Amino acid sequence: MQVFVDSADQKQIEHWLQQGVVDGVTTNPSIMFKDGVTDLEEGARRLAVLLGERPLSVEVTSNDCDTMLEQARTFATWARNIVIKIPIVNEFGESCLGVMHRLSQEGIGVNATAILSFNQAILAAKAGATYISIFAGRVADEGNDPEITIRNVRHWLDDWELSARIIVGSIRTVMDIQNAALAGAHIVTIPPQFLPKMVDHRYSRETVRQFVQDAEKTLEQMSKAKIRFATPAG
Ligand code: E4P
Repeated sequence: MQVFVDSADQKQIEHWLQQGVVDGVTTNPSIMFKDGVTDLEEGARRLAVLLGERPLSVEVTSNDCDTMLEQARTFATWARNIVIKIPIVNEFGESCLGVMHRLSQEGIGVNATAILSFNQAILAAKAGATYISIFAGRVADEGNDPEITIRNVRHWLDDWELSARIIVGSIRTVMDIQNAALAGAHIVTIPPQFLPKMVDHRYSRETVRQFVQDAEKTLEQMSKAKIRFATPAG
């Protein structure tokens, strides 16, 4: 399973890249705004460079399908690793599958976003989306179980040997990450505030504290006996 960071916060992305756990980054207009990106092109180019070969999802900003297409083609020229987020429908409920299909035919990577149901997911996969973003938190907001949707979509993709990859987003708690991973998500995109919570555990700290205390006693004995570590340089 891959881990993406759901953020446009450069410092956070850099930090978690250094920890070796980041396979990509997802953004959306709300994230860009929250994380202080005032120039979409500059922000997207900067994050794309930071990520090297890893994918960066950037979302179109219009309800109009022709404008989405035009924006997607432009965004895709900013960096080779930019994937275009296209919503399954616009705010009027009109299908955006045609936009996904055209872009995929042109070789532009598509992340089908705002997916809340199995049926939306299968149509996005049929239309040629590379990624299918199931919004777990928002599925749950509607009183539905995101794990069931994730598991069903994963089985369907596997059964029909389709290459689309499920990204689970809209993470609201650390448990959502575990649930998505075990339900068959190919990728979970995690807001950075949850990553320290995933790493830390009070009993791990206590365990390490005990080891450090005992190591200090050993080091003291070694010092008294004038025993030193051999360094790599000899
Ligand atoms: C994922 O790609 C989305 O950007 C994000 O996870 C949406 O989350 P939200 O429901 O908290 O807005």
